[in-house]
Amino acid sequence: MKQLNLKHDFPILDQKINGKPLVYLDSAATTQKPQVVIDTIVEYYKSSNSNVHRGVHSLSERATDSFEAVRSALCQYINAAHEYEIIFTKGTTDSVNLVAHGFRSLLNPGDEIIVSELEHHSNLVPWQMLAQVSGAKLVFIPMLESGELDISILDSLLNSRTKIVAFNHISNALGTVNPVKKIISAAHAVGACVFVDGAQAFPHMAINVQELDVDFYAGSAHKMYGPSGIGLLYGKSEWLEKLPPYQGGGEMIAEVKLKESTYAGLPHKFEAGTPNIEGVIGWGAALKWLEGIGIENIKKHEDDLLIYARGLLSEIPDVIFYGSAKDRAAVISFGIKGSHPYDVGVLLDQMGIAVRTGHHCAQPIMTSFKIPGTVRISLAAYTSKDDIDMFIVALKKTILILN
Ligand code: ALA
Repeated sequence: MKQLNLKHDFPILDQKINGKPLVYLDSAATTQKPQVVIDTIVEYYKSSNSNVHRGVHSLSERATDSFEAVRSALCQYINAAHEYEIIFTKGTTDSVNLVAHGFRSLLNPGDEIIVSELEHHSNLVPWQMLAQVSGAKLVFIPMLESGELDISILDSLLNSRTKIVAFNHISNALGTVNPVKKIISAAHAVGACVFVDGAQAFPHMAINVQELDVDFYAGSAHKMYGPSGIGLLYGKSEWLEKLPPYQGGGEMIAEVKLKESTYAGLPHKFEAGTPNIEGVIGWGAALKWLEGIGIENIKKHEDDLLIYARGLLSEIPDVIFYGSAKDRAAVISFGIKGSHPYDVGVLLDQMGIAVRTGHHCAQPIMTSFKIPGTVRISLAAYTSKDDIDMFIVALKKTILILN
């Protein structure tokens, strides 16, 4: 197995936790940051810190240019048709809320919102709130035992009342890769708008929004080697034009009078207030780093490691896998017979291994498996075969202790 070797780019990985070398297997929660991202943020504060889109002075122009260059890079990266279709948000959750809030003025009682049973809470709760306010009905694409969506019944769920179909590209809890294109074209056949939560897909595969023909697509920088608190909402301009602004304030206006205001055009209509400038600029550095490695190389590296890790785990009799979809990425969710995931996680941490345990912000998935949660390992470009070997040794020790 020819593997990427990127650990040296990530200073945080070179440390001991509880006296053992850190093995970081929680990249679906957040990825670590390469030195170049850290340096870029420090350099921004040392040499360019200023507010964007406001000043005529040189620092402000420099900050604005760096900021807008990242919008442009992201536009190219996901193949959006226009830079103004890239809205900076606080992250994927903020992006879902922006769209769900905007649809309050577009839905009527009796309209239907289709969501999948495989969602992170962030792509479920905002739609529940929208349904409550608008009188629209929530309809669910069921999840099969394998952790795949039952799209065989999709056509029976879709009809002229369906206004929105929202689902994730990759499940954060099980790693299932959903058949995004199929669902989008079925939804478009009844005139519905499609929102895809791409938080887990961005770091693992190439995204081409025009090829997908998706209406809205969201992601977070911190899951793709960039800073926290910054993300994007891609929207087709015709949809972004239809939605009202999400928040009012500076930057998002055209003209303000005491009793009313007119709003700026895209993208600024959705970017009220001083944005997370260092976050955007740091994200730009992360994107450059990622493009330097190549997303296809990262995908291949992670896919190989996933097969390797699953193979080793399947040799351990007490391991129960959750999710066996044919198409999966970067995540393995499992339980240990007779043990609570939390206890497994705490013992692994004692041996330097960072995993996530619990419901992974996807309680309905756990409910359908009738479990409180799982142990989840999640991989990234810097994960190595040695990491997996050390994890397996630690897991075997953990099982001995728990039994
Ligand atoms: N959504 C993140 C995860 O899956 C936080 O861990």
